[in-house]
Amino acid sequence: MQKSLKIKNICCIGAGYVGGPTMSVIAKNCPEIKITVVDINKQRIDSWNDNNLDNLPIYEPGLKKIIKECRGKNLHFSCDVDSAIGQADMIFLSVNTPTKSRGIGAGQASDLKWIEASARKVAEAAKGTTIVVEKSTLPVKTAETIKIILDSSQKDNKFKNSEKKDFHVLSNPEFLAEGSAINDLQYPDRVLIGGDNQKAIEALESIYLFWVEKDKIIKTNLWSSELSKLTANAFLAQRISSINSISALCEETGADVQEVAKAIGMDKRIGSSFLKSGPGFGGSCFKKDILNLIYLSNYYGLKEVGNYWEKVLELNEWQQSRISQIITKKLFGNLFDKKISILGFSFKADTNDVRESPAIKICKDLLEEGAVLSIFDPKVESSQIFESLSNGDENKNIIISKTIQESTLNADAIVILTEWQVFYELRWPEISKKMRKPSWVFDTRGIISVKELKKLGINVWRVGFSSKI
Ligand code: NAD
Ligand code: UGA
Repeated sequence: MQKSLKIKNICCIGAGYVGGPTMSVIAKNCPEIKITVVDINKQRIDSWNDNNLDNLPIYEPGLKKIIKECRGKNLHFSCDVDSAIGQADMIFLSVNTPTKSRGIGAGQASDLKWIEASARKVAEAAKGTTIVVEKSTLPVKTAETIKIILDSSQKDNKFKNSEKKDFHVLSNPEFLAEGSAINDLQYPDRVLIGGDNQKAIEALESIYLFWVEKDKIIKTNLWSSELSKLTANAFLAQRISSINSISALCEETGADVQEVAKAIGMDKRIGSSFLKSGPGFGGSCFKKDILNLIYLSNYYGLKEVGNYWEKVLELNEWQQSRISQIITKKLFGNLFDKKISILGFSFKADTNDVRESPAIKICKDLLEEGAVLSIFDPKVESSQIFESLSNGDENKNIIISKTIQESTLNADAIVILTEWQVFYELRWPEISKKMRKPSWVFDTRGIISVKELKKLGINVWRVGFSSKI
């Protein structure tokens, strides 16, 4: 390939938490490029196309504004996968890659069935020269599999008489965090492009150059790029497990984890980000990406490496169980028929995503003890809560509250599980009067003032803080 490749048409396969926001930001910054985001999930595409922007399938600050500006102009959402692939010069694969639930590697390896299905679709429907970009998080060496699938389409009899196809595969992992996706995409710390074809790399780089400074765009080989994504998530998760391990020690010794985090974070070598102690990390990626890293390590015979990362996950699970045990013990070891107000269900603030949310494990533990949970979350749909706690079945011990007042009324305890801004602003004098006594607040996010609540006669437990002192 000699000529530079000019990208006029982009297709993104997968209209999820990554595909939707990522393509929206590209569309906003590159008005000359036509972008079509496709998905096999019709309901999801319909929601992306809904006239009422409150019905978009994903809640992300700033997303509605971009959709309003670009949708129907250079940004389209469609179920017509073949046609979008056929028109595209560049195709992003942004499909889900969860942990395999059966067969070899079950419980650890990534399930690549959606990636493989997308690659086969591309092989079938693409025309001419097409750059295929891995946006999903993938095990190292997946680009090799994708290349084999794409190149084999040339050998397939079905395509004998069709126009010649030419594919280049790049890795371009996404580092956005939910809740700040639009900002992360607009002002990325870096953009990583892995590949072995210079023209293809330049073509992708030329898109980012519309809004990202050149020195923030890193180019590596394919395998470094794929592995960097898994490594970044593993390092971030490791910091959370590290500070959560210290939170338990703080509670025993009288140290305050927030003070410790501040003290260590001011050391430039450590840095202050990702040192907030909480109920353990959630979200769809940290756990699955570390499991994937463990699987890869063991696959290459590096047992010690796998064992090392395993500990990050173990600590995370322990933190969640530890919190539900503390709640149970403080409430006299008996939760039967006690009303517990759960404030926050999403895995972090500013998202409606509940995947792997620590709230799921903690709520299940409390339900197991017989508690009645009155759950309030500003953005999570009731159906998502029922789905995660009881597989969608009715459970009379799960009540979804529409307001904080309703959730906390006559509660024996309040458990803050997500750091939504509204929970920083709770009117404790009013709430405390309407709780059943003795009342407890369990703050797993470290956002309340222990002093203020104690003055109101509420018993308080805050993560990483000893109320004995
Ligand atoms: P998601 O489940 O929200 O979206 C994936 C979408 O792909 C779904 O809507 C699904 O219907 C669609 N899909 C699956 N197979 C398809 C096919 N053959 N054709 C068309 N559509 C298909 O997932 P997500 O959270 O957007 O994550 C996607 C990838 O990005 C994963 O690999 C994840 O690890 C990675 N990632 C996620 C985040 C995040 O914050 N969620 C951040 C960085 C990277
Ligand atoms: C994370 C990474 O931050 C992104 O860079 C990455 O692209 C993404 O995973 C992915 O690959 O999916 P995300 O899971 O959306 O993003 O959100 P984070 O802000 O990383 O939070 C993850 C979890 O860690 C949340 O449950 C959060 O509450 C928790 N957390 C985060 C803490 O407990 N303490 C902290 O200091 C930071």
